[in-house]
Amino acid sequence: MFKSCVTAAIAAFTLLAGPAMAAEGQPIVIKFAHVVADDTPKGKGALLFQKLVHERLPGQVKVEVYPNSSLVGDADEMQALLDNKVQMLAPSLSKFDKYTKQLQVFDLPFMFDDQAAVDRFQKREKSRELLRSMASHGIYGLAYWNNGLKQLSASKPLHLPGDAAGLAFRVQPSKVLEAQFEAVGAKPVRLPFAEVFKALQSGTVQGAENPWSNIASQNMHKVQPYITESNHGVLAYMLVTNSEFWRSVPFAVRSELEGIILEVTQMVNREAEALNQRDRERILASGSSKLISLSDAERQAWREKMLPLWQAYEAEIGADVIRAAQIVNRR
Ligand code: LMR
Repeated sequence: MFKSCVTAAIAAFTLLAGPAMAAEGQPIVIKFAHVVADDTPKGKGALLFQKLVHERLPGQVKVEVYPNSSLVGDADEMQALLDNKVQMLAPSLSKFDKYTKQLQVFDLPFMFDDQAAVDRFQKREKSRELLRSMASHGIYGLAYWNNGLKQLSASKPLHLPGDAAGLAFRVQPSKVLEAQFEAVGAKPVRLPFAEVFKALQSGTVQGAENPWSNIASQNMHKVQPYITESNHGVLAYMLVTNSEFWRSVPFAVRSELEGIILEVTQMVNREAEALNQRDRERILASGSSKLISLSDAERQAWREKMLPLWQAYEAEIGADVIRAAQIVNRR
C-alpha cells in the first residue's frame, strides 16, 4: 500500500514537473534532429545553437544535434516531437500540412519575388501569428529559418512548362506542391528527403525542386543533368518545439534559450543566401549539370500555368494570409 502511494506520488510529481525536469544535477537534454547536411543553412544553425547553449548554459542544458535523418526523418520526426523523444526540429513549412493549412502560403508558386520579400513577410504580424498556428496540437513555433529559393532539376532541359509534362517529380508532403506539378502536366511523387538522391539516381523520379544548398549537399547535381534557375518557390523552415516541454523549462533558462535562438536565426537568415550562391558556383564549376536560365517570357509561361493555385487554395490558406504575403513584394 505504502509502496503504491509512493509510486503514485512520484508519477504525479513527474507529470507536474513536466518533461524538461532533469534528474538532480543533470542537464536538460535537447535533442535537435533534422534531415539535411551540416554544411547547409539549417545544419549550420543547429550547430551554432548547440555551441552557444553549451557556452552560455554550461551544465544546465545539453544539445544533441542529429543531422541527415540520423535519428528521425521526415516520416516520423513530428510524432517524435509530440512524444517528446526529440525536443527541437526545423522541418520545412511544406511538412506541416497535417497540422495547419495556413503555412501552405509559403508553398504557393511565384508568391514571393525574391528572398528579401520572404524575409519581410516573416517579420510581419501575420507571419508571427502563424508561429502559433499549431498550438492546439502541442507544437510551438520558435522562429523561421530560411534556406532559399527553389530551382527545378531534371533529366531533360526544362525551358517551358510543357517540357515537364509526363516527368515524375519528387515533392515534399504538401498538396500545394503536388498541384504545382500537376498544373504543368507532371506527376508529383511524395518522398522523404533522405530518399531523394537514390530515387533520382535510379530514375524512379526524373526531377525535383530544391535550393542550391540542398542540391549540392546531397550531390543531386551528379544525377540531374539539367538545372533550371526558376526561383519559383521558397524553402523555409519553422524551428519548433513541443509546447509542454518548452513550458517545463525553468523561466530563466528558457529566456536565455530564446535569446540564443534569436541570435542564431539572424545568422541563418543572413548567411543562407551566401551559402546558396557558393553551392550554385560549386555545382556549375563541377560541370555535371547544365544551367538553364529562363527568359522573361519563359518565366512568365511557368507563372501563368501555376498562378491558378493561389485561387484554388485561398479558402484553405485564408485570403488574409495570402494578401499579407502578396503585399511584401515590391512590384
Ligand atoms: C525537403 O524535403 O526537400 C526539404 O524539406 C529538406 C530540408 O529540410 O531542407
